[in-house]
Amino acid sequence: MKKNTSNLINVDDKTFQGEKTITVSSPQKLFPSSRILKFSLFTATVLSLFLLTSVTTVAQDVNDVLRTVAANPQGEEVTISLNQYRMGRKLFNVSCGGCHAGGITKTSETVSLSAEDLAKAVPKRNNIEGLVSYMKNPTTTDGKIDISILHPSKMSQDMFTYMRRLSEEDLLAIAGYILVEIKRVGKQWGPTKK
Ligand code: HEC
Repeated sequence: MKKNTSNLINVDDKTFQGEKTITVSSPQKLFPSSRILKFSLFTATVLSLFLLTSVTTVAQDVNDVLRTVAANPQGEEVTISLNQYRMGRKLFNVSCGGCHAGGITKTSETVSLSAEDLAKAVPKRNNIEGLVSYMKNPTTTDGKIDISILHPSKMSQDMFTYMRRLSEEDLLAIAGYILVEIKRVGKQWGPTKK
């Protein structure tokens, strides 16, 4: 019985080895190209579905209700476009993110980009006009002292050279982005509340 089995195996082995030689010489047989193709198609579909969902999520998340923000302290409103929002996010991350990521102010927790702190300033900064004006000519919260030599701005773009790259439209997009984030992120935008 045992012998028989081992004989069988031997026979099988031989047959298998014979096949193996052929198989190794042509890899297509070992891993048929149609299987590779199916696998790549599957991966591509999964990947594109994933990308599509994430893009749609951003577009849905930042709908026009969220993109409607205060234009000025008088309470007029403006709806920024999705492109402006995206542009604002990019520019903010590059030019302001080092100190203001997530709406905080690294060295000055009480002068953050939170809704409350921006509303405290004179004139108010919780609107496009106030924020654009700050990026041109930043002042202390009471609006009395020019701090452009300390804070990056258009006034001090010779010192903070990366500010030179920002056009009027860019300032608007950054301001819009900050105000949308206040609405979108909620209380998490700015320093953590105790
Ligand atoms: C090098 C760090 C740094 C960078 C970069 C920076 N800021 Fe600031 N920002 C500060 C500091 C510090 C303060 C607090 C100033 C003060 O004490 O009045 C501040 C304050 C502000 C305020 C006032 C907040 C309030 O509650 O009144 C605004 C608005 C602001 N920054 C916007 C920006 C924008 C927009 C950019 C990018 C274009 C930017 N900042 C880049 C450090 C920075």
